[in-house]
Amino acid sequence: MAKIAVTETVLRDAHQSLIATRMRTDEFKDILETMDTIGFHSLECWGGATFDSCLRYLNEDPWERLRKIRKACPNTKLQMLLRGQNLLGYRHYPDDVVRLFVKKSVENGIDIIRIFDALNDIRNIEVAVDETLKNGAHASGAICFTLSPIHNLESNVKLAEDMEALGVQSICIKDMAGIMGPQDAYDLVKALKENVKVPIIVHTHSTTGLGLLALQKAVEAGAFAIDTAISSFSGGTSQPPTETMVYALRQQGYEVDVDEKVLKQINDYFKPILHHSLQTGLLNPLVMGTETDALVSQIPGGMLSNLVAQLTAQNKLDKFEEVLEETPKVRKDLGYPPLVTPMSQIVGVQAVSNVLAGERYKNVSSEIKSYVRGEYGKAPGEINPALQKQILGDEKPITGRYADLLEPGLPSAREYLGDRAASDEDVLSYVAFPAQAEAYFEKREAKKKKTFNYTVEKIED
Ligand code: CO
Repeated sequence: MAKIAVTETVLRDAHQSLIATRMRTDEFKDILETMDTIGFHSLECWGGATFDSCLRYLNEDPWERLRKIRKACPNTKLQMLLRGQNLLGYRHYPDDVVRLFVKKSVENGIDIIRIFDALNDIRNIEVAVDETLKNGAHASGAICFTLSPIHNLESNVKLAEDMEALGVQSICIKDMAGIMGPQDAYDLVKALKENVKVPIIVHTHSTTGLGLLALQKAVEAGAFAIDTAISSFSGGTSQPPTETMVYALRQQGYEVDVDEKVLKQINDYFKPILHHSLQTGLLNPLVMGTETDALVSQIPGGMLSNLVAQLTAQNKLDKFEEVLEETPKVRKDLGYPPLVTPMSQIVGVQAVSNVLAGERYKNVSSEIKSYVRGEYGKAPGEINPALQKQILGDEKPITGRYADLLEPGLPSAREYLGDRAASDEDVLSYVAFPAQAEAYFEKREAKKKKTFNYTVEKIED
């Protein structure tokens, strides 16, 4: 029977999905050495929202976190999630920034970089893939899985083939909304296996309850690896549970190379952290449940709750049904972008605006304008010509790669920061999240001074 590799997500996606990425390095550092002994294919532990969260909320240096994990886990591959040309932020960065970011990620300890683009535009991942390979790390190309009249097996296979041509060493099916059914998973893995040579990895979420079924069928179709979260941090908007999948796969005769006794130790370690998050209100118990509305509306769970929040803030919750009907129409007008960050927010905000204004596209957000101009990349399908005309007038949309139009970003950042940046890593933190990084540098400096004064006083004693 086939051997199935397991990637554990508790250090990244699981807490990003359940507790807004707020787990501190101090909270998990004592279990890292144990996690290193277990035989995971990889530990997803960095990238995604962890970088932003470290600087913005946790007063931590994200690079320092990575180095600590690396030191404690010399035997397990460390994996990060990277949003192609957007890196870990929400805008397009110039190529010099993307290249240095990837280089420093590898230097500080990353082995596998999973790279995706929200629009599945291959041009937005090519530089990150190239730099990953140059630095001797493993580049994994991720397909954002979405359902629409223009997304099908053929389009996904084509994307995978293009990624393989770039040199990626594995392909991940990334079902960020947990809407991939078992048959979707089976058919897609099978089609990919028939058309590309590199191993296939499947990433999903338990949001709608389909997760376990999708992973099961993906394995049957020949997936090489699955992403799971240790059970206390699994389920709901997080990944399906590690121990459950290991148990189920072994029962069917698959070989899974992890030690279940150690899995229990890991789970026992993380369980109180989750319970504590519940007590502090960081964990909303609702996210642990099963949310099947997405199967009817085709709108991801996270986006549905955002729409409710937007309408509640404006005291217009009575318009919810109308917004639910408007959302797929806006998505269609934009050529069916996958509803993943940042497109889910952009589509949602516009749908709410269309309904509340009582007139479609009376107000158009600046993000929609950038999108229609082509700044996010190529729309998967055709943008509604009338909308395009309304926004662009006679201006031509960009058809090339947007990053080609950007000036290098590092020289001005280095000049601006001067001595405040102690390293290239600092410069990158600043470029990615300027305000948060500056605030962090200030706090770090203040802390240093405090320690120094203290030492001086001690000597004077
Ligand atoms: Co995910």
